[in-house]
Amino acid sequence: MKKIIVTGGSGFIGSNLVNFLLKRNFFVINIDKLTYSSNKSNIKNKKNYRFFKTDINNRKEIFSIIKKYKPSAIFNLAAETHVDRSIDNPKEFILSNILGVFNILEILRIFKKRKKEIKLIHISTDEVFGDILNKKERSDENYPYKPSSPYSATKASADHLIKSYVRTYNLKAIISNCSNNYGPFQFPEKLIPLMINNIKLQKSLPIYGKGENVRDWLWVEDHASAIDLIYHDGEFGETYNIGGHNEWKNIDLVHLLCDIMDEELDRLKGESRKLITYVKDRAGHDMRYAIDASKINIKLGWKPSVTFEQGLRNTVKWYLSNEKWLNDVTSGAYQRYYDKHYN
Ligand code: NAD
Ligand code: TYD
Repeated sequence: MKKIIVTGGSGFIGSNLVNFLLKRNFFVINIDKLTYSSNKSNIKNKKNYRFFKTDINNRKEIFSIIKKYKPSAIFNLAAETHVDRSIDNPKEFILSNILGVFNILEILRIFKKRKKEIKLIHISTDEVFGDILNKKERSDENYPYKPSSPYSATKASADHLIKSYVRTYNLKAIISNCSNNYGPFQFPEKLIPLMINNIKLQKSLPIYGKGENVRDWLWVEDHASAIDLIYHDGEFGETYNIGGHNEWKNIDLVHLLCDIMDEELDRLKGESRKLITYVKDRAGHDMRYAIDASKINIKLGWKPSVTFEQGLRNTVKWYLSNEKWLNDVTSGAYQRYYDKHYN
């Protein structure tokens, strides 16, 4: 049985990935410091699973977990992830997304010196490429880095650091850069679950700027399958883009979501669209991300398995049938964040 450490395994993508791996007979060690966006209860299957509440910056503890379990790989997902929060308070992003990765790299360097090689699969983002304003262009793996937000700058920084460790120390690392994920367990500060929650509660739907910004959307379980494939068949030192071939303007996406929600909630068609409100734009807001994910398709044979409409409907159904989960994560601190940010 393959042992894998997943960091950030109690967050959105991490939970989906851990559940995916447990179904496929992996032994999973989840290391997560349990920030506001995490939820321990997302992992139900506790067989072949261990959990450690630890910061990836904790050198002593991470070192001893690796020593004890001897994993074949670390899938690093632990990070601060919300662009708006990085604009308000960048420091946590520096600590987790740069120094946390540095700590993992240094530990892996020590293990390598002792002839115990552990693979690193690092989960990065298409946001490192910044705005792609020319509509004919997409960012492939060789596209220049031009991050715009403190969040994307910390992710870019970690990518560069990892590449330097591959080149200098021959560390066995692979980076994947993915587009915007959606699906179950996503904290409702991000666009899709925030809109689902607000439509459900018939609250206004805050669209930044004119809603013309474009994102590519990736079904989170497709992302998990791509990470698994990269772990098995990816080449060390390479980077792989993972995307849904699925670019949407925010306003068009929210219209589609409103229509799906109207159907699912037996509301009159068009009712939820009336909740749309245009609000002040995000500072430094990237206009368009467009990832070219042809390399992973050509080299490893991966492609998305669901259409956006299917995935979005599955997501809506999940949030509507997991009311307790949604109520729990939107109480207390979430309300304070929401009021401060949107009012
Ligand atoms: P998330 O915010 O839902 O989860 C992040 C998890 O990391 C949380 O459980 C949190 O407690 C944990 N964490 C944060 N800092 C930590 C630290 N210092 N030590 C240990 N644990 C820590 O985020 P997500 O959407 O699941 O993102 C996971 C990864 O994927 C991140 O690296 C993110 O940059 C990347 N990514 C996400 C998206 C997306 O659309 N969600 C897109 C591209 C890349
Ligand atoms: P988000 O889910 O925060 O992901 P990212 O900024 O990492 O792409 O936002 C997705 C898009 O939706 C982005 O263009 C910002 C926009 N947005 C809104 O218009 N309103 C909102 O309330 C939020 C959270 C995002």
